[in-house]
Amino acid sequence: MMDTYGVIGDPVEHSLSPPMQRAALQALGIDADYSRFRVREGDVTEALKGARSLGVSGLNVTVPHKQRVAELPIVVNDETADRIGAVNTVDMDRMKGYNTDAAGARRAVEEAGVTIEDSRVVVVGAGGAGRAVAYEFGGDAARIDIANRTASRAADLADELSEEGFEAEGHALEELDSLVPSADLVVNTTSVGMNEDVSPVPKNLLHGDQVVFDVVYTPLETRLLREARSVGARTVDGASMLVHQGAEAFEIWTGREAPVEEMLSALKGEL
Ligand code: ATR
Repeated sequence: MMDTYGVIGDPVEHSLSPPMQRAALQALGIDADYSRFRVREGDVTEALKGARSLGVSGLNVTVPHKQRVAELPIVVNDETADRIGAVNTVDMDRMKGYNTDAAGARRAVEEAGVTIEDSRVVVVGAGGAGRAVAYEFGGDAARIDIANRTASRAADLADELSEEGFEAEGHALEELDSLVPSADLVVNTTSVGMNEDVSPVPKNLLHGDQVVFDVVYTPLETRLLREARSVGARTVDGASMLVHQGAEAFEIWTGREAPVEEMLSALKGEL
């Protein structure tokens, strides 16, 4: 029987996972389909149980269900997903939850030749994406500073990271002025710059010895990345992270190496 994969979310019509994952399945000659399933907030448990009964092999989870799925007793989380408190990928055969945003962020920067070890990292934002990036990079970085509009949320995340033994501190956005110039890697995990020509980091703080990574992928080159490029900084875009989180999910489900190039070109065809 043909395998079925899919993504649950609400809204889910604009999810880019279907074209990306279909391209991967096709490239490897796997006879499977990947569908979008709109699931309302109150129906997540039933949807997962139903999907399991129907023999769905794997699901991605998107807004607004990532945190919810992480809390469900029917899904057992891997360590990373558990720490982050968000699941974006479920291996339905094992009912195991993963957060591939974390590994996706790492693969994106490593592909660009960036070393996280012993670097000074500034993360802008402390939401779901911010947590994934902070946990993933926090262990290897020399220190990680988190700046968020709601400063208390950054402080809470930094406290959690400190408990893991990471060197971390939380800040208000205003403190970027003193944090960014000495950073090796600057990551935007907020939605600032999405479909809008604004940047979360003032241009005058950026310089050519930095790597600047934006998780936003609409537009592909955000104002932050454009300004970073103009001062000679190396840039990593959100499409790279999106593809690598998808590649990681694909590998969890199929046990095969994901065809990243094919996935990226399918994604870029949609953007
Ligand atoms: P995601 O899962 O995509 O990270 P989220 O959990 O809602 O989404 O987090 C959104 C992040 O973007 C948060 O860090 C949020 O800041 P607050 O914690 O203060 O809400 C940040 N954010 C969203 N809109 C913003 C804006 N206009 N200016 C600054 N930060 C913003």
